[in-house]
Amino acid sequence: MQQWFEVDRNGLAKLLERKGREFLLYELVQNAWDQDSTRVDVTLTKEPGSRLATIRVEDDDPDGFKTLPQAWTLFAESRKKADAEKRGRFNLGEKLVLALCQEAEIVSTTEAVRFDASGRTPLRRRRERGTVFEGKLRLTNEEFAACCAAVHRLLPPAGITTTFNGRLLPPRTPCAEFEASLRTEIADAEGNLRPATRKASVRVFPVVGDEVATLYEMGIPVVPTGDTYHVDVQQKVPLSLDRDNVPPAYLRTLRTAVLNVMHDRLPAEQATAVWVREALGTRDVSSAAVRTVVANRFGPKSVVYDPSDREANKLAVVAGYTVVHGSQLSAEEWANVRTAGALLPAGQVTPSPKPFTPGGPPLQTLPREAWSDAEQALVALYQRLAPHLIGQPIEVKLALAPDAFWAACYGPAGPLYLNRPKLGRRFFKGGASEEALDLLIHELGHHYAGDHLSDDYYRALTKLGARLALAVARDPRLLSCSTGDGE
Ligand SMILES: Nc1ncnc2c1ncn2[C@@H]1O[C@H](COP(=O)(O)OP(=O)(O)OP(=O)(O)O)[C@@H](O)[C@H]1O
Ligand SMILES: [Mg+2]
Repeated sequence: MQQWFEVDRNGLAKLLERKGREFLLYELVQNAWDQDSTRVDVTLTKEPGSRLATIRVEDDDPDGFKTLPQAWTLFAESRKKADAEKRGRFNLGEKLVLALCQEAEIVSTTEAVRFDASGRTPLRRRRERGTVFEGKLRLTNEEFAACCAAVHRLLPPAGITTTFNGRLLPPRTPCAEFEASLRTEIADAEGNLRPATRKASVRVFPVVGDEVATLYEMGIPVVPTGDTYHVDVQQKVPLSLDRDNVPPAYLRTLRTAVLNVMHDRLPAEQATAVWVREALGTRDVSSAAVRTVVANRFGPKSVVYDPSDREANKLAVVAGYTVVHGSQLSAEEWANVRTAGALLPAGQVTPSPKPFTPGGPPLQTLPREAWSDAEQALVALYQRLAPHLIGQPIEVKLALAPDAFWAACYGPAGPLYLNRPKLGRRFFKGGASEEALDLLIHELGHHYAGDHLSDDYYRALTKLGARLALAVARDPRLLSCSTGDGE
């Protein structure tokens, strides 16, 4: 029977040109670690002046290769497909390495084979235990250096002593380890790889030197993320056939799980890192993580801009708060910030003075008959001056609110309230005093603006000052305020 496919090895090698050469080492180490090995020795050497480098990976798995044709049969069923805790699944890696080799030998316990210009030849040699892969391939000096550096990025599993060119690759200690339910890929009964969700251990490692933070699959680097930590998932991660990418949703879930564990150890300046922002907008981010990140990002004293109380925003700034605006977080981040109570509106933290709280007790006022002569005289003065200042008459009421913080209040729609217990008798007795005129200008300023710290309010005050001066210059009797003068 004619096979459907033939493989053009040179064509395959050309396709592999776009991959960094370190993948060769990673594929061979991945296979060695996937066996019951306790020791894996990797060497990569290149004679000066030679264009060929020698790559050798030896393991001590008691069994070695089950059947050697697996080494050259593309896409055959991989035994490892059904095991989430083995790295192999495509039954492809070893073949990609061979495609790039000029010559190679695999010597294992039951079989051995040589690949060279004359084809594939069985060898008589056997090993007691384990397998050696040795291949010669062209590597430029840069590629050779890159491969040597890449070996040091491996995170050797605890139970497997791994050496490179005779030196131990020191095992690294994770800064955190936790369990997470993550997508993985396991073969079903028919051998088809299917997505599944499975609990696995996740190890978080600090990034050392000039390393780029990377997502690892059981110690093998797969996707450089540029995040704050290396993250090593102890089960199959959903990898592309090229073994160099994962779906964005997978990375998002993993980043969220890492943030939930690491947020209180994360350096404050990392609060704006892309991965942290991505995690901050997910449904699964914890409220504790949101609060820490927000505090680190905007400072411990921060409030949300409050459009319903503009003055409160300014009071917040004066009080040393950072006012966070809508555009500084995404809609998803805001939703989480609200749920976590990580930021309160300025109106709740530094509210502007409001005389009447909605739903509060009704304001008690004093009937006109109960006003003293001095009070009547001052009210008359205010009512006389108001049309000169704001162009319309005002109503004035005396309030009895001893517990309120305000002495007077006025808004364009309402009467001017004078809070008798707060102003005190002396205030009323003083007639057209500086204090009394100051209060009138302050309150009538609110005819134009509510916010004490706004530009509009400040302009209103200077305008009212000018108008008062001109009005009094025209008619000095406007300021007369003697009790019993009627108006
Ligand atoms: N060092 C080794 N010792 C024993 N068996 C090995 C070794 N290296 C490879 N094999 C066997 O050869 C098979 C093919 O390896 P290959 O790397 O091509 O595919 P894989 O590891 O199954 O999947 P992937 O393409 O995802 O790496 C493996 O499934 C494994 O059974
Ligand atoms: Mg493999």
